Amino acid sequence: MNGVSNAEVKAFWEDNPVAAEGIAAEPGTPAFFQAFDALREADDCEPFAFSDYIHGYSTSAGLRVLDVGCGNGYVLKQYARFGASVAGVDLTQTAVDLCKARFEQAGLAGDFRVTDGERLPFDDASFDIACSMGVLHHIEDPRPMIAEMHRVLKPGGRIILMLYYRGSWKYHVVLRLKRLIDPRYRGKSQAEALNMNDGPNCPLALVYSREEARRLLDRFTDHRFELNQLSWRQFLLVPGLDRILRPILPAANRNILARTMGWNLYITATKPK
Ligand SMILES: C[S@@+](CC[C@H](N)C(=O)[O-])C[C@H]1O[C@@H](n2cnc3c(N)ncnc32)[C@H](O)[C@@H]1O
Repeated sequence: MNGVSNAEVKAFWEDNPVAAEGIAAEPGTPAFFQAFDALREADDCEPFAFSDYIHGYSTSAGLRVLDVGCGNGYVLKQYARFGASVAGVDLTQTAVDLCKARFEQAGLAGDFRVTDGERLPFDDASFDIACSMGVLHHIEDPRPMIAEMHRVLKPGGRIILMLYYRGSWKYHVVLRLKRLIDPRYRGKSQAEALNMNDGPNCPLALVYSREEARRLLDRFTDHRFELNQLSWRQFLLVPGLDRILRPILPAANRNILARTMGWNLYITATKPK
């Protein structure tokens, strides 16, 4: 155990909403959401077609969907615009305010609350889908949150998670290399370097193997795994080499690299009937 409290996690994300430091526009403005969505849907990140394949946005009309640690509402917006009824909880007021702004600007309806995912303010068996993308790997013990997601899911409902992948190129090669040559990483342990993935002061980040993820979801069935996110630029390490080799390299998205050593491990599983 790393001894990181929820208060530390909350303080970090309150001040560092996801991707905001890389976007020039003021958080909460239309320009901010436009820039965020473009970054997220980039070929070497999470193109919409891949995200739709994981979440099933385009077939979600009429479903009730919960996002735990909803960030600025990207995922819920996709569900809502295809007709799902959506609720999002986040530990931070910053995220909930961003979700409300995003939905208001898009003319969509959503229920957003500042809540610790370990205590969900929803009835048993009230959602068809409960997702949590890029959240549980920032939490010391994710099992109470998963138990809550299991409780609020209807029998037959689906859980969808994204966790950083232990077998990734980034974890085994890029982070180790950074610890050797990048002055900001020098002297850090592998665990400390991993924590810095989401910002230098991020208190905690963890990686999971498929087996570790499956064990977390032992009350669910029909586990499915997908990997994504490893671009040629990240793989080749030498700046600019990907541009020179581009004519002979397969497209970045979902290439053999991303499918075998990608940074993001997506897991879907079903609550038994
Ligand atoms: C990396 S961001 C991911 C945001 C969003 N899921 C996405 O895909 O863009 C992690 C989010 O999880 C939230 N979070 C962390 N711990 C949480 C908890 N215990 N309960 C609810 N939200 C939490 C943070 O406040 C932050 O907004």
